[in-house]
Amino acid sequence: MFRAPRGTQDILPDEANRWRRLEAAARGWAELYGYGEIRTPTFEELGLFLRGVGEATDIVEKEIYAFQDKGGDWLALRPEETAPVVRAYLQHGLFNRPQPVKLYSIVNVFRYDRPQAGRFREFRQLNCEALGEDDPIVDAELAALLWRFLEDLGLRDLSLQLNSIGDSVCRPGFVEALVAYYREHLDKICPDDRRRLETNPMRLLDCKQPRCQPVIEGAPRTVDYLCGPCAEHFGRLQAYLADEGLAHQINPRLVRGLDYYTRTVWEVWPPEAGAQSTLGGGGRYDGLAEQLGGRPTPAVGFAAGLERILLTLEKQGLAPGEAESGLAFLAPLGQPAKRELNRLADRLRRRGVPATVGTGDRSLKALLRQANAIGARWALVMGDQELAEGKVAVRDLRTSEQRGLPVEAIVDELAREVLA
Ligand code: HAM
Repeated sequence: MFRAPRGTQDILPDEANRWRRLEAAARGWAELYGYGEIRTPTFEELGLFLRGVGEATDIVEKEIYAFQDKGGDWLALRPEETAPVVRAYLQHGLFNRPQPVKLYSIVNVFRYDRPQAGRFREFRQLNCEALGEDDPIVDAELAALLWRFLEDLGLRDLSLQLNSIGDSVCRPGFVEALVAYYREHLDKICPDDRRRLETNPMRLLDCKQPRCQPVIEGAPRTVDYLCGPCAEHFGRLQAYLADEGLAHQINPRLVRGLDYYTRTVWEVWPPEAGAQSTLGGGGRYDGLAEQLGGRPTPAVGFAAGLERILLTLEKQGLAPGEAESGLAFLAPLGQPAKRELNRLADRLRRRGVPATVGTGDRSLKALLRQANAIGARWALVMGDQELAEGKVAVRDLRTSEQRGLPVEAIVDELAREVLA
């Protein structure tokens, strides 16, 4: 027997209902903030991610699904959506429009990660980006969008973690201090950190090994090394967040796992924070467009992990309840009734009432059992007697009340209830 590949999942109809509601909420919030939808390809040139996300990141070093197609081109399933959105912005000349250009997408992304609770190899993100503007009010807007979306789902005890990691002017000074500090603590850090010290020192602060935590605690802090303009940007951002009543925690260790960030970075954590629980994160990436061959373009964005949001909703007892089903199950007793109900089902559907007709040659009991099993709201029963009288027995499956209604009246009646 085949099974879905490790780290992927099938979403069956009940689960799909929760997904649709979550996606509708995500879309709703992005559009409330004036973001327009963009859809990009599932795969891109591999080089886009090598250059965009960074060759010394976990995503590119260990997690990317890269392959050569039959024409010999190197491609990759998108491991994230920011680089593709910037590529599209440059490719379609969106820099000619009034800035910022605000784009959102709901995408499936792929990372060869070690599967566990909250960590998948194919997962879904709400991704929002604002391109072409360096005003920190946009950073605040995006952090607020992520926060309000999660808050509106009913999630409690979340925390907004915020940091500034500087830019090309002040970051080198910080990295120098960080490297000097770590060189004094080589004996206390893990082998991965010794490698990071050479390849990607910023990532040292993100190490999850217990033995490295005390070293991280004592490390230099990015916020102490910000140049004047970065410090001012960070200060204004915090003022805008305060204006909207968004409490945040400055977290000087927050560096994020992708190389393109400059200045602002943030994450939203659930109460039981851990490596695979972060609900969403993002930041500013003022150098990315240029790195991808475009003109210098300040930009900022975030992505939220939809599987993790659903898991956290469930943990907090908030798994969105069963949707009200407006489904009518039409239960025919005999062939002539089946033909009549088949016509009725067609009329119901054309009026927007979901309808399904019982199949085969089943007893009333078997038909009602099926109606309940598929979560129908009503059973519409017709046997020879109802057929002769031009009536249907309508059974409300929630209350078990039953009444006879003329076939002619049913479509109006059910449509009214379903569309109410
Ligand atoms: P990221 O932090 O790599 O950022 O991913 C964003 C979110 O995706 C995470 O906070 C988490 O909720 C979810 N996520 C990440 N990996 C997994 C996984 N293996 N399984 C399930 N969920 C996962 C980015 O992707 C950036 N592109 C965000 C961004 C947009 N920055 C600027 N603009």
